[in-house]
Amino acid sequence: MKILVLNGPNLNLLGTREPEIYGTETLSDIETELNTIHPETEIVFRQSNSEAELITWIGETRGVFDGIIINPAALTHTSLGLCDALKAVADVVPAVEVHLSNTHAREEIRHKSLTAAACIGQLMGFQGFGYTLALRALVHKLSA
Ligand code: DQA
Repeated sequence: MKILVLNGPNLNLLGTREPEIYGTETLSDIETELNTIHPETEIVFRQSNSEAELITWIGETRGVFDGIIINPAALTHTSLGLCDALKAVADVVPAVEVHLSNTHAREEIRHKSLTAAACIGQLMGFQGFGYTLALRALVHKLSA
């Protein structure tokens, strides 16, 4: 099983970025955690601050990846393009959306996700551990 884990804008700054909201784990810590917990799953872990690059990566998943875990970060609330990209491959590459923070408990602009409708499920509020939960959920779904 091959899973693409995508991370959007500013998530490269995890560890020092508003740690009271996002926790102190770096993106590299989260990647290590996923590989430790699911050594039998091939995980390709990427981050980009560019919406275009994320859309291109999603479009290239057909026939290559079995599933996607995505934290679109701020693009969650603005990007119809990311939503369309996820929908374009959803028939063969299901996605799970993950957020470190509970966006519903934050500013109103963060309550709406444009990308969640293109995903099979969404997990939020558990900081870095949410990625582990998302991977477990996706592997469970793909193995069913
Ligand atoms: C985030 C929540 C978004 O609202 C925010 O813009 C982020 C991170 C999260 O993981 O909690 O960059 O996606």
